[in-house]
Amino acid sequence: MAHYIIDHPLVQHKLSIMRNKDTSTIKFRELLQEISMLMGYEITRDLPLTYEDITTPLMPMRAPMIAGKKVVVVPILRAGMGMVDGLTKLIPSARIGHIGLYRDEETCKPVFYYYKMPACRERLVILTDPMLATGGSACDAIDRLKKDGFKHIKLMCLVASPQGVEAVQQQHPDVDIYLASIDDGLNDKNYILPGLGDAGDRIFGTK
Ligand code: PRP
Ligand code: URA
Repeated sequence: MAHYIIDHPLVQHKLSIMRNKDTSTIKFRELLQEISMLMGYEITRDLPLTYEDITTPLMPMRAPMIAGKKVVVVPILRAGMGMVDGLTKLIPSARIGHIGLYRDEETCKPVFYYYKMPACRERLVILTDPMLATGGSACDAIDRLKKDGFKHIKLMCLVASPQGVEAVQQQHPDVDIYLASIDDGLNDKNYILPGLGDAGDRIFGTK
């Protein structure tokens, strides 16, 4: 379908601080949460509304409310976890699923190790992962969700390579992608350039 770049100055400024190799783990995590909230505002723009009767201190009115409990936030472990809190601050009723995937260091192909989703297949899935490099992990995660019956999926990443965006759009044209940046490309180890390094390690302080 489409990809959307969230080019709001606040998002771009915070992303630049995250890219800096001297930014601490604490700051990196904090900024990712803030950006996720800002991106969440855009990604939820088309959530359906319903109207409920309420009474203000002055008079009754028909007031717009989000229609039902509509969202499942699904991080791709580990790095996708860093985007969950920002989204659930915006959508407290969201359920949370988990997909465990890591990229094999030699082949760069994704390896599955965990899958747990709430039952409600009709909900919108917001799949989170800060990095969309070759696109292998995101494509496999979406495959798995679709095989399990989820139909309405949006992918939220921070930084992508052009190849990653292309791969998801080819294999899953029905999935909209939300991004803060499409970078220049990939290095010989399939890391995004200029990118921000290994997102999981920077969020969890594992290197
Ligand atoms: C990173 C990242 C994505 C994947 C992107 O995860 O968070 O899941 O690589 O690469 P791809 O588009 O080429 O598949 P990683 O395998 O480092 O695992 P981690 O989050 O547990 O550190
Ligand atoms: N995974 C990351 O964390 N960073 C990259 O640049 C590519 C894959």
